Amino acid sequence: MISDKFKLAVLVSGRGSNLQAIIDSIEKNDLQAEIALVVSNVQKAYALERAEKHGLKVLFIDPKAYPDRANYEQALVEQIQAQSVNLICLAGFMRVLGKNFIEAFANRIINIHPSLLPAFPGLHVQKRAIDHGVRFSGATVHYVNEEVDGGPIILQAVVPICDGDNEASLSEKILKQEHIIYPQAIKMIAENKLTLSGRRVLHGK
Ligand code: GRF
Repeated sequence: MISDKFKLAVLVSGRGSNLQAIIDSIEKNDLQAEIALVVSNVQKAYALERAEKHGLKVLFIDPKAYPDRANYEQALVEQIQAQSVNLICLAGFMRVLGKNFIEAFANRIINIHPSLLPAFPGLHVQKRAIDHGVRFSGATVHYVNEEVDGGPIILQAVVPICDGDNEASLSEKILKQEHIIYPQAIKMIAENKLTLSGRRVLHGK
C-alpha cells in the first residue's frame, strides 16, 4: 500500500534551529515526514531563510494586518488547513495561541520548551532555572493546550546545571537536547505510537 507522507506545518518566529533539526532528520530519512508549510509571524525570521534553502513552502503572516488576535489566528487556521497537515510543530513561535486555533487542531499541536516542565513555564527560563538553584533542567516536548506550556508531556531530556553555567552555556546545552528530542517526538506521533491517558502520554502502543 502506498501511504501518503505524514505532513507537518512548522510555526516559527526566529532563529529556526529546531526547524533545522526537523529538516535534517527528514533529509536523513530518520523521520518519514514532509514539511508542507513553514509559517512565521516575523518577516525577517532566519528560520524562513533556512526553510527556503531547503525548498519548503514559507508564509509570513503579519499580525499587524489583522484587527485582532482572533482574526489573525483564523488566517493561520485557514492557511494550515489548506495544506491538510497531520501535525503542527511550534518551533520558537513567540505567540500564545488561543482557544479557536487550539480547537481547530485538537491534540495535533506540539511545542518544544527549554525547561523540565512543569518547572519554569514562560520566558527566560534558562536564567530562571539558574537563579532558582535547580541542579537539573532540560527540554520538554509537549502537546499544546490553552494553558501556556501546560499540555501533556511527550518527551523530556535532562541537562545538569554546573556551578560555572550561565544563561548562554545552559541554553546551548539544552538546545542540543531539543534538537534530539523534537524530531524523536514527531517520529513517535507519525508512527502512531502515542496514546493520551488523561494528562499522561503513553509511549508503548
Ligand atoms: C528554543 O529554545 C525552544 O525551546 C523555544 O524557543 C527556542 C527556539 O529556538 N520554544 P529556535 O528558533 O528553534 O532556534
